Amino acid sequence: MLINLTERSNQPELMDDFQEGRKNLQIVFDDINRVNSILGGNNITVNAVAKLIQKNPQEQYTIVDMGCGDGNMLREIAKYCNKKAIKVRLIGVDLNAEALELAKVASKSYSEIEYYHKDILALKITDLNCDIVITTLTMHHFEDNDLLTFLKKFNQLARIGVVINDLQRSRWAYYLFKVFSLIFIKTETAKIDGLISISRGFLKSDLIEYSKTLPTVKHDICWKWAFRYVWIMQPDRLT
Ligand SMILES: C[S@@+](CC[C@H](N)C(=O)[O-])C[C@H]1O[C@@H](n2cnc3c(N)ncnc32)[C@H](O)[C@@H]1O
Repeated sequence: MLINLTERSNQPELMDDFQEGRKNLQIVFDDINRVNSILGGNNITVNAVAKLIQKNPQEQYTIVDMGCGDGNMLREIAKYCNKKAIKVRLIGVDLNAEALELAKVASKSYSEIEYYHKDILALKITDLNCDIVITTLTMHHFEDNDLLTFLKKFNQLARIGVVINDLQRSRWAYYLFKVFSLIFIKTETAKIDGLISISRGFLKSDLIEYSKTLPTVKHDICWKWAFRYVWIMQPDRLT
C-alpha cells in the first residue's frame, strides 16, 4: 500500500534526539550535505538570498541561519558573498550544542561566521536583529502552531526578508528518496530521517495557509527541484 501523505506526519526525527556522539553526528551531516549538494538544495537558498541582496543594496548585511546544523549553508553563503565582494556578518543559531561544535570547527577559516546556542522558539523580538533570516530543512521539524510563532518572530527580526527552504510532502519525493538513499546515503539515521522529513514536509496549500497569518508581509512561494519549496517573505516596510 502506498504511503498516505494527506496530513503532515508528527513522527519525531532521530536527529532531534541524537545520542550517538559528535563523530557520528558529523557523518549524518555529511550525508545531509551530500544530498543538498547533489540535488541542488543549497543553491535554492543562496539564489534567494542573492535576490534579496540585489533588491536591497547596502554596505553590509547580517544574515541569521535559524537551525543552522553544522553551518554548511552559512559557508555556502560566505563563499558566494566573497566571490561577489559583498560584506556580510553571518550568524548560525541551533539548539544542538554538538552540531554547533562541528559548525565552529568547519568554519574556522570564515571569520565572518559566528554561532549561537539558542532555541528558536524562545527567541525574543530584541534578539538577533538582522537583515535576512534563512532557515533550511528546519521548519518541518515543528508542529504548525510552533512554526507560526517563529515565522512571525523571524519577520520581526529581519529588516529585508526571510527565506525558508523546505521539503515538499509528496509520494514521488518519498519513493524517489528511498531509491536515491540506497546509493548516496551512508547512515541509517539520514535514510530514516529523510523519509520522516518528507512526510513532515509541506504542500503548497499548507504554506499559503500559513502565509495568511502574516498579512502585512509580501509572500513568494515557489516549487524547486528536487521537491522543495522556497518561500521568500518581505515585510511590507520595504515593499
Ligand atoms: C535537518 S537539520 C538542518 C540543518 C541545516 N539547516 C541544513 O540545511 O542542513 C535541522 C536543524 O534544526 C535544529 N533545530 C531543531 N529544533 C530547533 C530549535 N527549537 N531551535 C534551534 N534549532 C533547532 C536541529 O538541531 C538541526 O540542526
